[in-house]
Amino acid sequence: MESPPGPETVIDGVRYLYFAGTSYMGLHGDPEVIEAGCDALRRYGVHTATSRTGFGNSPLQLEVERSAAAFFGMETSFYFSSGYAGNHIAVQALAKDADVIYIDAEAHYCVQEAAALARKPVQTFNHRDAEDLRSKLTRGVRPLVMADGVGPSNGRMAPLAEYVRVLSDFAPAILHLDDAHGVGVLGANGRGIYEHCGLWSHVNGGPDRDGVSLSMCGTLAKALGGFGGIIPGTAAFVERLRKASHYFDGASAPASPVAGCSLKALEISRTEPQRRERLRANIKQLRDGLREMGVAVTDEPTANVGALIGNAGVMQKLHAALRAQGILVPYVPSYSGTGPDGLMRMAVCAEHTEAMIARLLHAVQEFLTTRP
Ligand SMILES: Cc1ncc(COP(=O)(O)O)c(C=O)c1O
Repeated sequence: MESPPGPETVIDGVRYLYFAGTSYMGLHGDPEVIEAGCDALRRYGVHTATSRTGFGNSPLQLEVERSAAAFFGMETSFYFSSGYAGNHIAVQALAKDADVIYIDAEAHYCVQEAAALARKPVQTFNHRDAEDLRSKLTRGVRPLVMADGVGPSNGRMAPLAEYVRVLSDFAPAILHLDDAHGVGVLGANGRGIYEHCGLWSHVNGGPDRDGVSLSMCGTLAKALGGFGGIIPGTAAFVERLRKASHYFDGASAPASPVAGCSLKALEISRTEPQRRERLRANIKQLRDGLREMGVAVTDEPTANVGALIGNAGVMQKLHAALRAQGILVPYVPSYSGTGPDGLMRMAVCAEHTEAMIARLLHAVQEFLTTRP
């Protein structure tokens, strides 16, 4: 990639209509975001060159945490260098109150690795299958269930209400979701899958829901247009997480330029809800259009759409045919949640126009009607 990600992106010198990646709000190339990053770099240098205890707490890190807290409507937040680490940070604290970790078999790599490092027995359950989860649970054994809020490649939402219903029969229980692809996209304020499902007030230090403690972690690097991991919560919850691992006192905070970008991107995400409205309209146009031509996709309001179109060979050809027309849609052969044939992973952002999405749909339709 030789340009910022956006509706049009330059790859190997060619400008493509780009339906890939995760910059769902279209902010990673935003001039104000870029200028904020440059300004932060000039003001604070690359970063504090020490961990956050001692001398390493710059005003910028604290401002990002305040701004993220405002975005999520929470007391405070913890900002750290990578969303990948968020599950590890959370689980170091949460696993203390659980006997066994149950993990969605297709959860993202970082969820799997975090569970493995928690020093508790780990079992898997079938992808998004609350009844399979139920069949693995045992009364008297306190479960910690871990999954993605939204599948990174297939775009499918976790069956949240079903998980809570099942887990309430085995209370006290904990449900932790990595909402990397839900934050910024789902919910009235973009707070993610829990907000979308009306459970936000219970999350990250809020009261249990039917005996189930709910938690999440997120990233600023995807929809929100910045960089770094984020965990919002009550002051007590965030303090507990900060102390349970050494990301706060043993690692550099996110670098100044990305913190500066994140701060501006968070402000735009919070104060310009019309961007999310545009993203929603784009998601609907893409999903409706695919369904109308017989491609099996759901009507979930997620911005990444995993479409199984024929088998692996057909999808490789579709990818190549689209690319030859200047349209980039990745064929993902294997990733968490792709299934054995892989899938076409289409992503829309707020900056795509109706005409751009119509062009993609038309090209897919043409391929489907003309291929032998
Ligand atoms: C579900 C999920 N969690 C976490 C991450 C990593 O987040 P970050 O890029 O902020 O490290 C990804 C990245 O692709 C992801 O898909």
